Amino acid sequence: MNPSTKIFLTGHRGMVGSAMHRALLAKGCDNLALRTRQELDLCDAAAVHAALGAEKPEVVIVGAARVGGIHANNTYPAEFIHENLASAHNLIHLSWKHGVKRLLFLGSSCIYPREAAQPLTEASLLTGPLEPTNEPYAIAKIAGLKLCQYYRKQYGVLYHSAMPTNLYGPGDNYHPENSHVLPALLRRFHEATQNGAPDVTLWGTGSPLREFLHVDDLAAGCLHLLGLDNPPDWVNIGYGSDVTIKEVAEIIRDVTGFQGELKWDTSRPDGTPRKLMSSDIIRDTGWEPKIGLREGIEQTYQSFKDELAAGTLRG
Ligand SMILES: NC(=O)c1ccc[n+]([C@@H]2O[C@H](COP(=O)([O-])OP(=O)(O)OC[C@H]3O[C@@H](n4cnc5c(N)ncnc54)[C@H](OP(=O)(O)O)[C@@H]3O)[C@@H](O)[C@H]2O)c1
Repeated sequence: MNPSTKIFLTGHRGMVGSAMHRALLAKGCDNLALRTRQELDLCDAAAVHAALGAEKPEVVIVGAARVGGIHANNTYPAEFIHENLASAHNLIHLSWKHGVKRLLFLGSSCIYPREAAQPLTEASLLTGPLEPTNEPYAIAKIAGLKLCQYYRKQYGVLYHSAMPTNLYGPGDNYHPENSHVLPALLRRFHEATQNGAPDVTLWGTGSPLREFLHVDDLAAGCLHLLGLDNPPDWVNIGYGSDVTIKEVAEIIRDVTGFQGELKWDTSRPDGTPRKLMSSDIIRDTGWEPKIGLREGIEQTYQSFKDELAAGTLRG
């Protein structure tokens, strides 16, 4: 991507958006339009129209969305489908209206059917029922992906999508109930260590398998896609292997120095039994992850402590 290209990066305060921001600046791409949610609510079509008209970007990166773990999806289903549908439609439709030539939309691995064969391929989209615990969010993400696909087909604009696996890294949301599993575990083990607790109780059975990708690898993957002349309509971005929740909990126990016992609250939902993505297509275009899980968790724990000390920890 040409460093002088005018890029509108949404969600730059979020985990993915801030990683994209770091990656763009590292590549000398500093001709950026940025707005906080307070400055621009992406669910407000008139405000999005005005912002695109004022900034006239050449590229739009959709890093903003209403995101959360199993508990948040279960508790706020209407908000999750409304906010993610509205913000995706506003950005994709109005970007086209304003002549934006290129747009990258971010979805998630939950777009794929609950029972689809693992690893999940791009071709398994819409071949079966979704995981009920996050269906509202998944449907909004599928709609965004399809908006890009059909605006590209009808109008010839280069709108395309990336489907990341579970992400973690600096700037994550550590809300005790609404966050994703990895940041929730990091916070819980940190607090247990600080308080000298004898044990930590974790949700579910510990047996679900999950794939985790460091957000800086994801950002590099997105910039890689934005550099392709003919990217796929949608493509997975994953780490390539998965671990059980029990295994990642044990890595986090080690990294935080917790000495106590692990207990499992099996009355809490496990979610999808396994969610490993096939990343063959993006790997065939020359991208692969660089940050290993243990190294990534060590780095993320350091940024967690820094954010805590600085009073900037989210959640
Ligand atoms: N985290 C993951 O494991 C994961 C996995 C796969 C895909 N993704 C995708 O990656 C993208 C970013 O996720 P993330 O983890 O970076 O989430 P995040 O940390 O919660 O960041 C989302 C950002 O979007 C902003 N935002 C939300 N609704 C908005 C609205 N209506 N108007 C303006 N700004 C709004 C938020 O603003 P505030 O700071 O004001 O809340 C926040 O800065 C999403 O599309 C998500 O689906 C994430």
